[in-house]
Amino acid sequence: MLPIIDIHRATIYRGDTCVFSDFSFILREGEHAAILGPNGAGKSTLLKLLSGEVHPMPLDETRMRLFGEECWNVWDVRKRIGIVSHDLQRDYLIGAEGLNVVLSGFYASNDTYEHQEFGQAQIMRVHDVMRELGIESLAGRRFGHLSTGEQRRFLLGRAVVHDPSVLVLDEPTSGLDVKACFQYLDLLRAQIQKGKTVLLVTHHLHEIPPEIERVILLKEGKILTDGSKSALLTDDQISTLFGRRIVLAQANGWYQTLPG
Ligand SMILES: Nc1ncnc2c1ncn2[C@@H]1O[C@H](COP(=O)(O)OP(=O)(O)O)[C@@H](O)[C@H]1O
Ligand SMILES: [Mg+2]
Repeated sequence: MLPIIDIHRATIYRGDTCVFSDFSFILREGEHAAILGPNGAGKSTLLKLLSGEVHPMPLDETRMRLFGEECWNVWDVRKRIGIVSHDLQRDYLIGAEGLNVVLSGFYASNDTYEHQEFGQAQIMRVHDVMRELGIESLAGRRFGHLSTGEQRRFLLGRAVVHDPSVLVLDEPTSGLDVKACFQYLDLLRAQIQKGKTVLLVTHHLHEIPPEIERVILLKEGKILTDGSKSALLTDDQISTLFGRRIVLAQANGWYQTLPG
């Protein structure tokens, strides 16, 4: 299968902090994966690398290919990857109307603007997406007046409206109550059923849907292990990852952490 994301020997700084040193990672089409790691592991930085907000150091050994292309243009990539991050939710313009939040996905912008042009097909697509995500009745509501869960669903709509092949999500259900969390995971699973490749970065095991088979344990910018969920989601591996004793509970392909 075609590697969608191919990061080879990247070194990445945020300010004075070296978050990744000689970091490599490959994700292939159709290979759903969860990058699991404690706070500060580098999960959000990795997301920003994919969205073009941070860049690797220009070292000789470093190579980064997205969708098989070396010289990728940020705007082309944003068309092919749908990203839902917490930074986006925090920074999104609170005055934007719901419908426009979804519409803004066509330009990967944080509201819609006068110079942007939208066709009838795009408006119809926005309505289809809102219906699919159960947010059509909120189309006229301003972003700042939506609940956290509703905002998250609008941002998912924004991420999928242009039908990218890959969805990348940062802790998709944090801040949501149990019902909103499970509703959101259902929506995510529906995207997987539709053929999207999903990459999740998170420290919550409970938000890894059964369809995600590959997990990458990330700590302090280093991949500890990378493999199948059944092999890696064990009490010992997760205790090592988070640096304290943890026991895992498991039901129907879902996992939960408990204090050990
Ligand atoms: N803007 C920044 N300036 C300096 N250091 C940063 C910045 N953003 C993140 N870091 C540091 O980079 C490391 C990784 O952060 P981050 O990618 O946000 O981790 P995670 O999402 O896994 O919690 C942390 O040590 C964090 O303090
Ligand atoms: Mg983070």
